[in-house]
Amino acid sequence: RKTYKLAVLPGDGIGKETVPEGLRVLDAAARRFGFDLELKHYDWSCETYAQTGKMMPDDGLDQLAQSDSVFLGAVGWPGVPDHVSLWGLLIPIRRGFDQYISLRPCKLMPGGRTPLANRGPEDIDFYVVRENTEGEYSSTGGRMFPGTDREFVTQDSVFTRVGVDRVMKYAFELAMTRPRRKLTSATKSNGITFTMPYWDERFAEMAKNYPGVTTDQFHIDILCAHFVQHPDWFDVVVGSNLFGDILSDLGPAVAGSIGIAPSANINPEKKFPSMFEPVHGSAPDIAGKWICNPIGQIWSGAMMLEHLGEKAAADCIVKAIETLLAEGGPRTRDMGGNAGTVDVGKALAEAVARG
Ligand code: NAD
Ligand code: IPM
Ligand code: MN
Repeated sequence: RKTYKLAVLPGDGIGKETVPEGLRVLDAAARRFGFDLELKHYDWSCETYAQTGKMMPDDGLDQLAQSDSVFLGAVGWPGVPDHVSLWGLLIPIRRGFDQYISLRPCKLMPGGRTPLANRGPEDIDFYVVRENTEGEYSSTGGRMFPGTDREFVTQDSVFTRVGVDRVMKYAFELAMTRPRRKLTSATKSNGITFTMPYWDERFAEMAKNYPGVTTDQFHIDILCAHFVQHPDWFDVVVGSNLFGDILSDLGPAVAGSIGIAPSANINPEKKFPSMFEPVHGSAPDIAGKWICNPIGQIWSGAMMLEHLGEKAAADCIVKAIETLLAEGGPRTRDMGGNAGTVDVGKALAEAVARG
């Protein structure tokens, strides 16, 4: 019997509400499919920051490195500046564990609610592959002459050959596994004249290795418009850290709700643990009311099981989500229902237990 070690970090806000539901469904899957989950809980958050001045202990990454995967809720809370909280916990994990792929499915489930007229599940089913360790999220730059009228700030974008090539390779390989075998690149080489032409150059170079994949590319501005007007054009979309971030909120919004969107921060070589978290944040506007949608968290749990090699269990969870939405099971307010967070988690755990 296999045992997987999970580091569990609910973090802030609704992370504390979604993570228990994620664990409830994972537990049901573990029982049914015959593996064990050994959980280690960490309370690292903006609350611990208020007490200790740190988002995580100095040896935080060493502690997490003992686990097979990290299961995270959300990070960020009013009162602690976002650049302090996120760069003190979330970003160091992504970068420290070289989780250079952020994989974010955008899929309209049968029974899901797209805001687009005349669109069905067959029209919206694609992946955003986001570069997750470099690009626009760099730590070089700074503020000069603070407080004077000569004040200026800079932040470099860093695109390394290794970093660009490996995310593109992953995206091409993913496209190869899809029936349509199509890959779209998000660019802005008309406005950002050093990094984006380089991105395009590496994309064209990598495409030579994958003659079976159909490629196209759009500038990020019109690409956003196409996500809304022609979501059916997309199969796999690869983007830099910032463009991928933007597209992976827009995609799920088009597919119904940011509340159901999952994500995987993957180190494909499995040299370090990967991390699984919903795309959404801590939602301070609804936290504490237990009305948030736990499906993004639960689906992230399914992506985690797939990464760990428990594909049947992962498929069972995704199927349970599909069935719940298609058959009018409990749904939270963001999806037009009035169920609570726990109602949805319990319904899905029961569905997984039944099979
Ligand atoms: P957010 O995703 O937290 O919330 C945006 C809107 O979506 C809110 O109206 C919220 O109520 C709604 N929403 C989000 N998740 C939902 C769910 N599961 N069910 C129902 N509704 C949901 O984004 P924000 O307001 O920009 O950020 C709030 C905080 O979270 C900030 O500190 C931000 O930096 C942080 N954040 C963290 C992560 C992360 O940990 N990965 C991601 C995004 C934002
Ligand atoms: C996400 C979030 C984070 C990001 C923020 C909170 C730093 O928006 O996971 O998409 O930009 O990566
Ligand atoms: Mn985001």
